[in-house]
Amino acid sequence: MQQGKILVTGGAGYIGSHTTLVLLEAGYEVVVLDNLVNASQEALRRVQDIAGRSLTFIEGDIRNRACLDQLFDEHDIHAVIHFAGLKAVGESVARPLAYYDTNVNGSLTLCQAMQQAGVFRFVFSSSATVYGPDAPVPYRETMSRGRTSNPYGTSKSMVEQSLEDLVHSDGRWSVALLRYFNPIGAHPSGRLGEDPQGIPNNLLPFIAQVAVGRRQMLTVFGNDYATEDGTCVRDYLHVMDLAEGHVSALGRLPLPGIHVYNLGTGQGLSVLQMVEAFERISERPIPYQFAPRRKGDLAAFWADPHKAEQELGWQARRGLDEMIADTWRWQRQNPRGYCSEINTTTQGISQC
Ligand code: NAD
Ligand code: UD1
Repeated sequence: MQQGKILVTGGAGYIGSHTTLVLLEAGYEVVVLDNLVNASQEALRRVQDIAGRSLTFIEGDIRNRACLDQLFDEHDIHAVIHFAGLKAVGESVARPLAYYDTNVNGSLTLCQAMQQAGVFRFVFSSSATVYGPDAPVPYRETMSRGRTSNPYGTSKSMVEQSLEDLVHSDGRWSVALLRYFNPIGAHPSGRLGEDPQGIPNNLLPFIAQVAVGRRQMLTVFGNDYATEDGTCVRDYLHVMDLAEGHVSALGRLPLPGIHVYNLGTGQGLSVLQMVEAFERISERPIPYQFAPRRKGDLAAFWADPHKAEQELGWQARRGLDEMIADTWRWQRQNPRGYCSEINTTTQGISQC
């Protein structure tokens, strides 16, 4: 058994819930802190059910220093995996202060509380967006961060910079910056998955909702890019692979310093390739129409994933068909996401 517990902020969300499950299955004790602004407690109930183990859930906010101090006081935390944040690019343009407050201020408050509690191992959810529009593909960790085009991206870049400065100021810190490419898919049980509120911004949740009949038609943003079929190319990876990447990153944390890793497959796929694969696997038609390009989209990017492979022994193992089959199983079994089965009991839940 590993020493101490792992604090997972945002652990009720899409990536956080899958990672919490993988941690429980690997034998870790987990404390989840989430304010449920974009998540359901039902996800955590299912995580515990699948794992056959329990976790501690604290309903609270990463910006609430008193809540964090109490948490670190009451639990022997070995390391923190920090998912909590706001992630909708369009919304970040409309509500920049909310994004900087949660993503930047929240992350700094968390680090301050960690420092006071003497906890110096930190895994941060960053994004491929920090490479910016001018980086050549594939993206490599040796490239510097580029300019960002929206407050969401800027908030990730600012936290990365703050963590670099923190590590340079104090040799006790050990920080992993994990730059995710495009996570999709769901737990193979079909009981955990991505449950976007309102109209999905991201491609796969939108396609899945068309397939299940919740939406009539997909809009494909742009068919005049300089790619093979004219649509954008992305590096889609399975959320279970991504979750496992976090457990691998924890293994690196005894080493002080800053450790930057791309978590992607290294392979790019176009929007139309994703549509075709979803139609084939779900055996449902996905009607679509072309529309102008979406502001801020880049034509094509994918990861060079070799550093994670060499240093963490991590590699995305699940292929496209598995990603789509798992997305489809989740969507089919939960056409309205978690909302049909929200557990309203507060038994066993701490709040601060
Ligand atoms: P998500 O919205 O499903 O999960 C985020 C979780 O954080 C939610 O459960 C939400 O309730 C919680 N949260 C938000 N603000 C909080 C606060 N102030 N205090 C406590 N909890 C709070 O998103 P996700 O897709 O699981 O993403 C997790 C992290 O990974 C985010 O930081 C996101 O920016 C980053 N990321 C996601 C992607 C992606 O494609 N999903 C790509 C790159 C990076
Ligand atoms: C987006 C964000 C990125 C963020 C990531 C994860 C932008 C510009 N980028 O990445 O910063 O880290 O989500 O949250 O928003 N598409 C359609 N129709 C749709 C939806 C998407 O054609 O209804 C296309 C997009 O134009 C894009 C591709 O599908 O070419 C993937 O889109 P999406 O899933 O939103 O991911 P990214 O844009 O790569």
